[in-house]
Amino acid sequence: MKIIVTGGAGFIGGNFVHYMLKKYPLYKIVCLDLLTYAGNMETLASVMDNPNFTFLKGDIADREFIYNLFGAEKPDIIVNFAAESHVDRSIENPDVFLQTNIIGTSVLLDACRKYGIKRYHQVSTDEVYGDLPLDRSDLFFTEETPIHTSSPYSASKASADLLVQAYHRTFRLPITISRCSNNYGPYHFPEKLIPLMIANAMSNKKLPVYGTGENVRDWLYVEDHCSAIDLIIHNGRIGEVYNIGGHNERTNLEVVKTILRELGKEESLIEYVSDRPGHDRRYAIDPMKIKTELGWEPTTLFDVGIRKTIQWYVDNKTWWEHIMSGEYQDYYKKMYENR
Ligand code: NAD
Ligand code: DAU
Repeated sequence: MKIIVTGGAGFIGGNFVHYMLKKYPLYKIVCLDLLTYAGNMETLASVMDNPNFTFLKGDIADREFIYNLFGAEKPDIIVNFAAESHVDRSIENPDVFLQTNIIGTSVLLDACRKYGIKRYHQVSTDEVYGDLPLDRSDLFFTEETPIHTSSPYSASKASADLLVQAYHRTFRLPITISRCSNNYGPYHFPEKLIPLMIANAMSNKKLPVYGTGENVRDWLYVEDHCSAIDLIIHNGRIGEVYNIGGHNERTNLEVVKTILRELGKEESLIEYVSDRPGHDRRYAIDPMKIKTELGWEPTTLFDVGIRKTIQWYVDNKTWWEHIMSGEYQDYYKKMYENR
């Protein structure tokens, strides 16, 4: 079995590469990544010598490159993680989100048609469903919830999902789509809430909470996301969408306070800053379909996962300190200074 994993130098893709190489010692994994600001070869350092692993730098939107790659590698399965993934950046500059998330996906789909594959899997997000009100804890996103996007990021991911479904209906391409809630765990880029708050707290810097901090996210430990995708690409029904989440809802403020408590830091480090435009209020997944059809359930409770994650950032300071030096400083200033 040969799998092309796109975006494998990023957070979830990197965790998926490690997960698959460990679980399937006979599989070949080809990782393709453009190494944007979010791609990090240090995430893949420990597998670079694995004879079953190959890394290639390239753009999923580069048609010639992708066709040559498919022609040479003849993959069985494609798992597409490659994306621009940060909502705040999509508000600053939507263009690159459209290019990678929509055009990039369409190039991969065309390559699948041209060269033939057993499965194309699109890694999507619960953000395509929009948001839920804060005062209706009885409501959850199901696979039937209408697409209703808020940010350029979520609009680009929803567009990609629609293309993937169109290629299934029109060209009978064997696809699956997964829509996951917020992930956390090792190798998470410290522009996102949990790793940013851990890094800032460890450095005694202010923790910028948007608005009132009451927005709710449904947190999933990244390894549980990897096990769900593993099940879907092997046993999922062709043409289907599967939601992935684990009823681990927390307000942002609860998450931030937990991090401060675990690190023994004062809550006075919290700084309320102006809200994200169009800020989604609550995400909450109903994972019943993947549970009943594929027997998937998350194994890591939030309280356990957050401790493991904090410990990883404590033990791997060089990994995130490299990222937070240089170019990232300019981004941080632009996003947070005078906010
Ligand atoms: P990430 O930003 O950490 O990683 C994205 C990776 O894609 C990086 O390594 C980057 O270099 C690469 N990339 C970007 N543009 C590329 C291009 N044109 N060609 C090839 N590679 C390119 O993102 P992540 O958090 O790991 O998310 C991975 C996927 O999962 C994304 O599709 C995202 O929409 C989806 N997702 C993320 C979450 C989450 O909580 N992080 C939740 C649900 C879904
Ligand atoms: O739900 C899945 C999505 O989760 C993925 O599709 C996205 O790729 C991923 O980035 C994530 O999106 P969010 O916008 O939910 O994640 P983020 O970590 O950026 O923010 C989480 C919450 O924390 C959100 O309500 C905004 C808030 N926040 C975030 C940052 C970076 C803050 O209050 N302060 C911050 O500095």
